[in-house]
Amino acid sequence: MIDLHTHILYDLDDGALTLEESLEMARIAVADGIRTVAATPHSPASIASRHYSPNLIVQRLDQLCAALQSEGIDLTVVAGTEIAYDGDIVEQLRRGDLLTYGSSRAILLELSSNRMPPTLENALFNLQVAGYRIVLAHPERIVEVQQDPNLLIPLVERGVCMQITAIALLGGQGRQLQQVCETLLTHQMIHILASDTHGPSSQRPPTLNAAREYAATLVGPAQAESLVTTMPLALLNNQPLQLPQPKNVRG
Ligand SMILES: [Fe+2]
Repeated sequence: MIDLHTHILYDLDDGALTLEESLEMARIAVADGIRTVAATPHSPASIASRHYSPNLIVQRLDQLCAALQSEGIDLTVVAGTEIAYDGDIVEQLRRGDLLTYGSSRAILLELSSNRMPPTLENALFNLQVAGYRIVLAHPERIVEVQQDPNLLIPLVERGVCMQITAIALLGGQGRQLQQVCETLLTHQMIHILASDTHGPSSQRPPTLNAAREYAATLVGPAQAESLVTTMPLALLNNQPLQLPQPKNVRG
C-alpha cells in the first residue's frame, strides 16, 4: 500500500518530533503492509507549520532514508507538501518554494479553516492549466461538504482527486465525520485513502489496512484496494487517471 499523506519528517510541523519517532512511524506502517509513504509537511501558510523549505525537507528525507536503511526498515519515502490554500500557489510551485509529490506534477492541497473559499474553483482551474494535478486533503472536514456532499461533484468531474482520512472512515474522529466519509465513498467521490498520521501513538496512526478493509465492505474489495494502490501510484508516476463518474447524493 501507498500512504500519500503523512507528517513523518520530524520537527517541521505538528507531526513527528524526533528522528526516532519518524522511525517508529515507519516500523508501524511497514507492519501494516505499507511500502511507500509520501512525507507531506505543512506549508508555511498553515498555522501548524514550524519550519519549511524545500531544501530542509530534502535534507530530512535523506536523513530518514539513511536511517531506514541502517535499521533495515523496508519503506520508500518520497517528498511532498500539504499545501495550505492561499492566493498564489501556482507561482510558489513555479518558483520551487513548494514541493509536488516526488518528481510528479501532483500536489496535496488543504483548505484553511475547513471552509470552501469562493475563489476555490478558479484557483483549482489555474493549477490545472499550469499542469498540476490536485489531491484535495480530507474533504470530509469541509463544512460546506458536510452540509451538501454534491459540492464535490464539479471538482471531481474536473479531475480533482479526493483523499479521505483512514481513521475518520473508521469512526475515530466521531460518527458525523464517519458518515460523511461513507457517503462520499459510496457515491464515487473518493479516490485516495491516507493516514494523515502525525506520530506513532497519535490519534491518527500510520496505518491503512483496517480502513481499507472497512472500505471494502462499502464499495467492494477492488475499489477499496485501488484507494491505497492503483490511484496513489498513478499520481506518483504521472500516469493518466480515469476518475469514475460521481453519483448525486439525494437529500
Ligand atoms: Fe495532514
